[in-house]
Amino acid sequence: MKTIVGDEWVTIADGNGPWSDKLLKSMRECLFGRAVKSAIDDPEAPILQEYLDYCRRGHGYNDANIEFEKNRLRELCANLPKNYDSRAGMLLDVHEDRRRTVRSGPMSLNILADGSFDMSYIPDGNHRMTSLAIAGMPFNVLIADRAPEWEQLKQSLYGIWGRKYIYQPIPHPDFDSWEVGHGGNERFAAIEEYVRVNDCGGNVLDCGCNYGYLLYYLLVNGTIESADAFDFAALAHKIASMVLSPYGVSPALSDAIAFFANGNDRYSTIFAMSLVYHFVEIYPIEKSTQLIKVIIERCEHFIFDDAPTKDTWPEAVKSGGLVKWVEKVACRKSIKIGHDTEFNRGIFAIGGDS
Ligand SMILES: C[S@@+](CC[C@H](N)C(=O)[O-])C[C@H]1O[C@@H](n2cnc3c(N)ncnc32)[C@H](O)[C@@H]1O
Repeated sequence: MKTIVGDEWVTIADGNGPWSDKLLKSMRECLFGRAVKSAIDDPEAPILQEYLDYCRRGHGYNDANIEFEKNRLRELCANLPKNYDSRAGMLLDVHEDRRRTVRSGPMSLNILADGSFDMSYIPDGNHRMTSLAIAGMPFNVLIADRAPEWEQLKQSLYGIWGRKYIYQPIPHPDFDSWEVGHGGNERFAAIEEYVRVNDCGGNVLDCGCNYGYLLYYLLVNGTIESADAFDFAALAHKIASMVLSPYGVSPALSDAIAFFANGNDRYSTIFAMSLVYHFVEIYPIEKSTQLIKVIIERCEHFIFDDAPTKDTWPEAVKSGGLVKWVEKVACRKSIKIGHDTEFNRGIFAIGGDS
């Protein structure tokens, strides 16, 4: 299948998403990766011997090959710390290593159905990639092939707006070049600050989590410990599941009323970002009121945002605006914790001293 939305090159780096992190972890944990790492820390480490034994058994290396491999690894390791700050130096070093032993050329990877990188097929750069992963350096790879299911998923996203546009960021290198509608680092920073100051990140729930980026951001930064999430849109749910499953979060495919009707877990914080206005637009006012009451009962802190009032909203919400309506239903005052300039909306919290 020919891609119309794919890019040829992607950058693999620490922290650019669960898919990259998984690949880097495998590289650091493979026998060669552990041998390189140990050789840096301790040139006599037994893992080196284990690696050389593997070369002898697995690749049929003779004594001369083993001696060559030993020196090659020593050289590589001796140069790793020296070139730690120089990506070019590192690439040259390892590139030279490959040219001598096998062949030069771009490092290439396949992308599997779930967007992860295929570790079983790295034809021309596994040692280079592994060494760069050990050194914590970003590297570019040529994407040789993408699984049809992954292409299909990207096509579905492309089809929503007819262009490379996503509402929330998706932490995968394939989406680096896509326009993000609600990048929102400003709002994430305000939310993060509130959660840290109020120490309310123990067990959180993200309602209408979209592609899971808010929880991803807070999990990767260590602001929250555990989380639940739900969204009623199938595609959003699928992406959120892929983004969050490496961090132990399994979002539910559910609408808000059904989610709160099933189960009665309590949360330190519940987020409903850019969502409360959807409630009043799709549910009858009694249901929206009941939903807000249940949410407030089920958490210590509730974080939500405002939206411009619409004529089509129920009178009870239109009269004082969204935030006032939430306060009235919750019988609690809110505090403004930030402003989202991208969408020109205040961000509010009910909880703590409010
Ligand atoms: C405007 S987006 C906001 C996404 C995210 N909370 C944010 O602030 O970036 C609304 C999201 O909520 C989901 N959604 C809207 N109404 C919902 C409902 N009643 N139950 C569950 N999800 C809902 C949509 O599918 C969409 O992903």
